Amino acid sequence: MLGAGYGLIERAAIALEGERIAWVGEEAELPVEFAGAERVDGQGGVVTPALIDCHTHVVHGGQRAREFEMRLEGASYEQIARAGGGIVSTVAATRDAEFDDLLARALTRVDALIAEGIAVIEVKSGYGLDLETELKMLRVARALGEDRPVRIVTTFLGAHAVPKGMQADAYIDEVCIPALEAAHAEGLVDAVDGFCEGIAFDTVQIGRVFDRARALGLPVKLHAEQLSNIGGTKLAADYGALSADHVEYATDADAHALAASGSVAVLLPGAFYTLHETRKPPIAAFRKHGVPMAVATDWNPGSSPMGSLLLAMNMACTLFALTPAEALAGTTRDAARALGLEDRGVIAPGKRADLAIWDISDPAELSYGIGINPLRTRIYGGRP
Ligand code: NIG
Ligand code: FE
Repeated sequence: MLGAGYGLIERAAIALEGERIAWVGEEAELPVEFAGAERVDGQGGVVTPALIDCHTHVVHGGQRAREFEMRLEGASYEQIARAGGGIVSTVAATRDAEFDDLLARALTRVDALIAEGIAVIEVKSGYGLDLETELKMLRVARALGEDRPVRIVTTFLGAHAVPKGMQADAYIDEVCIPALEAAHAEGLVDAVDGFCEGIAFDTVQIGRVFDRARALGLPVKLHAEQLSNIGGTKLAADYGALSADHVEYATDADAHALAASGSVAVLLPGAFYTLHETRKPPIAAFRKHGVPMAVATDWNPGSSPMGSLLLAMNMACTLFALTPAEALAGTTRDAARALGLEDRGVIAPGKRADLAIWDISDPAELSYGIGINPLRTRIYGGRP
């Protein structure tokens, strides 16, 4: 059956009032009060919630094409990071970049996502690793949402890597946590993230950041179990995290913990693909325990230089065996959940009128195409 698993309504109508959805159902049952409203004809296309990219690093300086070449020559992501490349090389480029330059480059990335029908983009800091640059990144992120019709959700990722010349513990206590407090005081932080990994921070260090986030009333999320399992997913679940992201090395017990805490597993197939990973996230366990799964680009210059959420959906299906219906839920309903946004990501009365109209006849086409963008119109807050 066409559209099974999507809640698809054939010959549907959606009534909008201001920024909100007022009614949705069969066109034949449209309440008379909307009969005289201005109409946009869907022309046989498919309407979905506008897409949500719930994990990106689109604010960054420089590029790391040389590391791409090094990996093709046999070096691993971890080896490159331990040799002084990786995240800290983007830190140098981001520290050097002027605010306007960072903003201009990030705007081109945001425009590419908007062109795919995206209405919400999460943007992380984490390439500053000092107070000044972490604040600069988050201010750029906020500016993106002022310059473009898109909702930007900012995430403080001070605990992303240990900067050159510092010890991890000292960095967390003397730089990262004070930077978090300063960024929060400026209203720049919607959530707090960390990178829990052998090449970054352990659960005790991340726990200190999360304790401060909790004290400030900020939700947390975590890059967890990407390259190994060191307990990040369980830590995230213990803190009631919005999401645990990557999670290739998560176990059945981790999936159980995420389900119990109501956290979303954010799948990032672009990083899995770029780093030639072979260990896949435990999709069957997530399904079994009822863990919501989101899909995002992880757009960053190192592990996922990927500017297409539609491609991430395709990869989530092809590489991780998500169904196209799961991939679409993962870039709408469950992506909203991963950001703590209750008022969008589904087409229902009262929800925000962020919609995408596609030139397709089956919603599975969104995941099936490779490098194809069938967007016809994006509606943002009720406005085309
Ligand atoms: O989500 N895993 C850590 N952080 C990023 C990579 C950042 C980078 O390599 O610059 C990620 O994959
Ligand atoms: Fe990331």
